[in-house]
Amino acid sequence: MEFYKSKIKGTGMYVPEKVLTNADLEKMVDTNDEWIYTRTGIRERHICSTEGGEWPTDMALKASVQALEAANLEPNDIDMILFASVTPDAKLPNSACILQVKLGITNNCAALDIAAACSGFVYGVNLANSMIQTGAAKNVLVVGSEMLSREVNWEDRSICILFGDGCGVAVVGRNEDSDQSEILSSTLGADGTGAEFFDQPVGGAVEPITPEHIEKRTHMMQMKGGEMFKMATRTLANNAKKVIKEAELTLKDVDWLVPHQANVRIIETTGKLLGIDSEKVIINIDKYGNTSAATVPIAFHEAIHDGRIKRGDLVLFDAFGAGLTSGATLLRY
Ligand code: UT7
Repeated sequence: MEFYKSKIKGTGMYVPEKVLTNADLEKMVDTNDEWIYTRTGIRERHICSTEGGEWPTDMALKASVQALEAANLEPNDIDMILFASVTPDAKLPNSACILQVKLGITNNCAALDIAAACSGFVYGVNLANSMIQTGAAKNVLVVGSEMLSREVNWEDRSICILFGDGCGVAVVGRNEDSDQSEILSSTLGADGTGAEFFDQPVGGAVEPITPEHIEKRTHMMQMKGGEMFKMATRTLANNAKKVIKEAELTLKDVDWLVPHQANVRIIETTGKLLGIDSEKVIINIDKYGNTSAATVPIAFHEAIHDGRIKRGDLVLFDAFGAGLTSGATLLRY
């Protein structure tokens, strides 16, 4: 069987217009800018309009148009959409199908949603890579798009200060340019025994939302932050080491670490555990908070756009989230 190389051909991002600052949150719950910034690194986050135009697939449309342009591709060149989100537009149809229509794709391309929480985009990139390597797909649109503001209890200060809305997209495609760009190694994993650390059990088949849930706000996301923190740093460091080893490279070779943006202290601790200089770590949590599946593609896109990440650089994606899911990708951009 022929084996193809894949690479990231283009990226895009979109964040909603409305900005919610820590000062705004001070008026909503018993918190303050100093606590939020020192504990999380977050200054502000973007929040989707509920009037329309900024639903997860709308944000994905805007980001995808940019990514396709950067990749020099037309919508109908895409033969698979992988849409990572825990806040899809609807239960049915999946968001990938909605995006297919919004993009005007008429080739009946495959369209699949990925529910892997904050690791969803990295799951998507790694699955796209496998599809491309085997020849099952040629150009895969990988989306991370979230409207977490819908699922956050705005009366719970332990959680509402953490999250934001936004979208990042990458076109992963077969490398036909004979350049050095390539996805070199990847890992995906999960530890379902840690599910209780970050969950939202109400609203599924087992326990539908009732008026009582709505009154008590028990249908929202709930997290045990301290437990997540410990698991995150350990898992992020282990997965990074795994992909480096598989590619027969060293952590010193890494030009850029693009980690999931859940907490600046998690990112800094992971960087230290790996011995990666802080200047090589992409951090933008101050502007966007935790946008779940969108953090890695937004951070990656921004760093390409402002000239930090260049073609040929060795880039490491590293993500961790509810599930508990995790994944890492090592690539030559
Ligand atoms: O993306 C998925 C992965 N996400 C994560 O992995 C998140 C990981 N966890 C975290 O980022 C941190 O654990 C948090 C930022 C969520 C919390 O930080 P922490 O340092 O673990 O704080 P804590 O929960 O231990 O709370 C410390 C204190 C508590 O008060 P007492 O009991 O010490 O009196 C909280 O009640 O801070 C209080 N507190 C707040 N105070 C002001 C909790 N939230 C707030 C708040 N403002 N928003």
